[in-house]
Amino acid sequence: MRSIGLASSAALAVFAGLAQASPTPTEQEPPSKRASLPTVTASGNAFWQGNTRFYIRGIDYQPGGSSDASDPLADPTICQRDIAQFKLLGVNTVRVYITDNSANHDTCMNALADAGIYVILDANNPLYSINRADPGPSYNTAYLQSVFATIDAFIKYDNTLAFFSGNEVINDNATSTLSARYVKATTRDMRQYIADRGYRKVPVGYSAADVAQNRMQMAQYMNCGTDDERSDFFAFNDYSWCNTDFITSGWDQKVKAFSDYGLPIFLSEYGCIKNGRNFGEVAALMSPNMTSVYSGGLMYEYAMEDNGFGIVDIASGNAAVKELPEFDKYASALSANPAPTGSGGAASTTHAATACPTKDSNWLVDSTLLPAIPDGAKDFMSKGAGAGPGLKGPGSQNAGGTSTGDAAPGSGSATGSPKKNVGVTMAQSIDRTPFVLTGMVMVLTLTGTLLL
Ligand SMILES: *[C@@H]1O[C@H](CO)[C@@H](O)[C@H](O)[C@H]1NC(C)=O
Ligand SMILES: *[C@@H]1O[C@H](CO)[C@@H](O)[C@H](O)[C@H]1NC(C)=O
Repeated sequence: MRSIGLASSAALAVFAGLAQASPTPTEQEPPSKRASLPTVTASGNAFWQGNTRFYIRGIDYQPGGSSDASDPLADPTICQRDIAQFKLLGVNTVRVYITDNSANHDTCMNALADAGIYVILDANNPLYSINRADPGPSYNTAYLQSVFATIDAFIKYDNTLAFFSGNEVINDNATSTLSARYVKATTRDMRQYIADRGYRKVPVGYSAADVAQNRMQMAQYMNCGTDDERSDFFAFNDYSWCNTDFITSGWDQKVKAFSDYGLPIFLSEYGCIKNGRNFGEVAALMSPNMTSVYSGGLMYEYAMEDNGFGIVDIASGNAAVKELPEFDKYASALSANPAPTGSGGAASTTHAATACPTKDSNWLVDSTLLPAIPDGAKDFMSKGAGAGPGLKGPGSQNAGGTSTGDAAPGSGSATGSPKKNVGVTMAQSIDRTPFVLTGMVMVLTLTGTLLL
């Protein structure tokens, strides 16, 4: 639903902010009740909070609307106003599309933690993103510097649940599938950065558009290849449940199609507005119909904008919030359908890689090789990304410093020796099973693909 736009051509100056500064120093957090909010990990095909299965019962949060490139987590007045509403709703996760990696987020992230709310963050923003029309030049050192600086800005918070390496970069135009290699390379680089910096293993994955003709290939592609090339989870946006039911919406087929996927899956946006809204999706997501494959989802969205999906009205900036009728409906759906207890049928071990999709008229990628990380970005792994360019930097689209060839599979494996808790609060280390690559390739069943 939200598409990251291209940088204006006025922002083509070579990005000069690549100082090799040392990483943000660790700050010891004072003891507080925050310490009781456990970190969430990805293991098998599910998320876990300690030994308890964790379901995303969340909402997409962009209070200025999708056209406003501002960071709600950098403004305590705005986030605290909205956290009060999130508590009334009963959500446990919010997704934030745009954040400022030069800003301080302590107040908002800690207030969210106090409310028991986790955060999923997009690592891109309008100035620093992959350009689907011409992806090669946009995958460059300045772009990765911004992406890594966003990781630096948020990884220290226990309630950072996951990072999106891209959002709807691939759309319904087959040509856009050629940008998948760069999205996957970004995902690899983010995972390597987290490992090499000795950070907590916050999961990284892609948020796919609601596009039937390439959704399955996209999912397979992000889960194929060597272990360093595979995502930690897959997410997609879905607007097919239009106040109907599990079968009519086709969600039954979307369970079947992904039953062997092996990684956690969730809906990064859902909530069709045709036919009114009663959020029957929540009952389905929390039921045995879905929990063996899906780990919940994020309802699109909190604040009303022109597209009509919001559940509160906010006149502007830090104006008061006015709840719309759908606010209570979503709150009721959540409270009537608590997260199930037990494992929900989750697979306890991580699968081997799926087979990479083959080229066809909807999927134009014809190589399993990924572009190598740009030379200029390699140093970030050992030295850190340095200060983030924020939301007003010169942008990265044509900054130069691009990849010079394909990478050998496996090149993104961690090389640094992990340091203990650098930049991370003293959270319980509850990573359970590390992801394993067995070397066997498992062919994902394509049953139901055509129905997606
Ligand atoms: C698909 O994307 C390409 C590259 O951006 C563009 O040139 C082409 O016009 C698009 N096709 C359609 C049908 O929109
Ligand atoms: C679960 O699936 C069955 C059909 O197999 C359907 O009748 C039922 O309504 C579904 N449950 C929910 C909560 O959607």
